[in-house]
Amino acid sequence: MDMIRLAIMASGSGSNAQKIMEYFADNKHIKVVCLLSNKPYAYALQRAEKMNIETFVFNRNQFYETPEVENFLTIRKINLVVLAGFLWLVPEKMVRKFKIINIHPALLPEYGGKNMYGMRVHEAVIQNREPFSGITIHHVNEHYDEGNIIFQAKCRVDESDTAESLAEKIHELEHRYYPEVIEKLVSNGL
Ligand code: GRF
Repeated sequence: MDMIRLAIMASGSGSNAQKIMEYFADNKHIKVVCLLSNKPYAYALQRAEKMNIETFVFNRNQFYETPEVENFLTIRKINLVVLAGFLWLVPEKMVRKFKIINIHPALLPEYGGKNMYGMRVHEAVIQNREPFSGITIHHVNEHYDEGNIIFQAKCRVDESDTAESLAEKIHELEHRYYPEVIEKLVSNGL
């Protein structure tokens, strides 16, 4: 089996990116090749550098108006792009060229869409007194949070939960399942 080459895209802290880089560090079939960010100071970049994974920072113009990001991925023979807290909408030309997946911190199709990210998701879930929340791993298309769902895991929302405590529960689920789901997807031929 040829080596499957992953690129991670992250805008923030990158705790999910970290788990993925660690999980595949010694894998013979799957390799995290690079981590890309639209934020020059994203902590995710430092995490990648510490693990000797190549990084690339780009701006809005490069992403939407030039082929630079796609070329970067093509040259490195990337088979799968993994979004891990990446906040910009992926342009259609890129969605067509690459297989891309994302993780969303709620049970889509609920609590998704353009302004539903980060703590806003958890605040909305708490406000609506939902009994459950969870994570959704899905294919990425040209609309926010609308690609086909690959995997979901649920957790209970307790009466005593705040947006912060719920965020922690959700992060635990993300860290536990995102690397495994990527591995499964690869072993099923992507
Ligand atoms: C995660 O909750 C993920 O679901 C969302 O952004 C957050 C990223 O967290 N898309 P981190 O940067 O991986 O810690």
